[in-house]
Amino acid sequence: MSLERLIIFDTTLRDGEQCPGASLNRKEKLEIARKLSILKVDVIEAGFPVASPGDFDSVQEIAREIRGSSIAGLARALERDIESAARALEKAESPRIHIFLSTSKTHREHKLQKSKSEIIKMAIDAVKFGKKFFGDIEFSPEDASRTEQDFLFEVIEAVIDAGAKTVNIPDTVGYAVPEEFGELISSIKSNVKNINKATISVHCHNDLGMAVANSLAAVKAGARQIECTINGIGERAGNAAMEEIVMALKTRKDFFGADTRIDTKHIMPSSKLVSSLTGFFVQRNKAIVGKNAFAHESGVHQDGFLKKKDTYEIMNPKDIGIEESELILGKHSGRNALSKRIGDLGYKLTDIELNEVFKDFKILADEKKDLFDEDILSLIQKQKTLEDDLTTYKLESIKCSFESGKVPKASVILKNKDGGSNEATAKGDGPIDAICNAIDIITGLTCKLIDYQVMSKTKGRDAQGEVIVRVVSNNREVLGKGIGVNTMEASGLAYINAINKLLFKVKSGSLQCDDVIGP
Ligand code: KIV
Ligand code: ZN
Repeated sequence: MSLERLIIFDTTLRDGEQCPGASLNRKEKLEIARKLSILKVDVIEAGFPVASPGDFDSVQEIAREIRGSSIAGLARALERDIESAARALEKAESPRIHIFLSTSKTHREHKLQKSKSEIIKMAIDAVKFGKKFFGDIEFSPEDASRTEQDFLFEVIEAVIDAGAKTVNIPDTVGYAVPEEFGELISSIKSNVKNINKATISVHCHNDLGMAVANSLAAVKAGARQIECTINGIGERAGNAAMEEIVMALKTRKDFFGADTRIDTKHIMPSSKLVSSLTGFFVQRNKAIVGKNAFAHESGVHQDGFLKKKDTYEIMNPKDIGIEESELILGKHSGRNALSKRIGDLGYKLTDIELNEVFKDFKILADEKKDLFDEDILSLIQKQKTLEDDLTTYKLESIKCSFESGKVPKASVILKNKDGGSNEATAKGDGPIDAICNAIDIITGLTCKLIDYQVMSKTKGRDAQGEVIVRVVSNNREVLGKGIGVNTMEASGLAYINAINKLLFKVKSGSLQCDDVIGP
């Protein structure tokens, strides 16, 4: 199927930068322009030169450096604006002037106080004046979607006759709906006599959340240039998001029969750059570049995805510059996803081990929202530790009370190898001492805790802590480890782990193990 090549006109540095709170300095604008040229944007609207000396300088700098993309400057239909843009764009490889003038009734009457004929004359004069400096002229009848159609056709025909090569149809206030906007483009095609001499462009705002849908409906109706911004930033609710437009066209070539020259693998890095320089965070569930756009958490989805990616994914994350999709491990995840992650981490567990880790995983996922690789490693480690030490005792529960000024008390229940439970309560100098004392009552051992360390294994306030204890009994010293979100419980687990090791060594008469010292 032969595909129509669309022109991508990026206005991140003009309409995008115009949005409240997103002002960028010269260096930052240049950095974004470089990224846009790597993305292979066809036209970069670098700014509005007459707006301020800073804007002028930055358009000039971008025009001097960037090659391979046209550089556009915005201008009102005024000679001084056009002259300023001409100076700023003097060194551009392929300069374009973008002249705009309001055409809708409300703008004509309240903003400009001009009649229809005055507007037509201004538009023609501006385009003709622009021709003195530019071969590439784009004209935008601002608020086109709310302009009386007959008048809009008249303006478009006049500016094309005057020399405009692109006519851009802005939905300035995001008022259009896709079907209607597509019809507007079709009627421009059939009512403007000289329309074949110009490219139809669209510029949609997102006030009703339809900027991308409106732009795509326009493509379907014959528009051949789309104006958009990275991450959809722009005036008020923003402009059509470039990444959404480009990926919709790429993914649904079958429907649109069109594509762009955008090098899509630079989409994610561009999105990150714009977000970090403007300080505008990308919402997590934003299409294409949101953190969740390629993340699956539900067990059913993960299972399907692991069997065949296209069960739940319509795009390849690599096409956007994302290394791979993420299987988020959380309480909705299934055994299959956990097993895959364990394999990715380099572990091979038996079915029994996997069952045990999966049980612990579900308990942990209830306690903790995000489970990181370190959490999974801790669970594997815990499982391995339990097996290695030929467990005599298993922790069933710990109850521990602590109150300033009072002696801490702990009650511990341990399960022994035969399945019986033993319970003891003890006091201590601190809660951990109380826990160890209660355990000693159950085991009948006299142990000394000679070292105690706690370390955070994962991130956040609900991080898992790893407790390492050194315990000495009868001249034997062993190391015990325990892991958990609750440090008290992890401490009890570490102490029991040490005791199990001691008992194993006593039973096997082993004195030559690494962690046994003494005469
Ligand atoms: O939204 C708009 O109408 C504009 C024009 C300058 C094209 O940004
Ligand atoms: Zn705009």
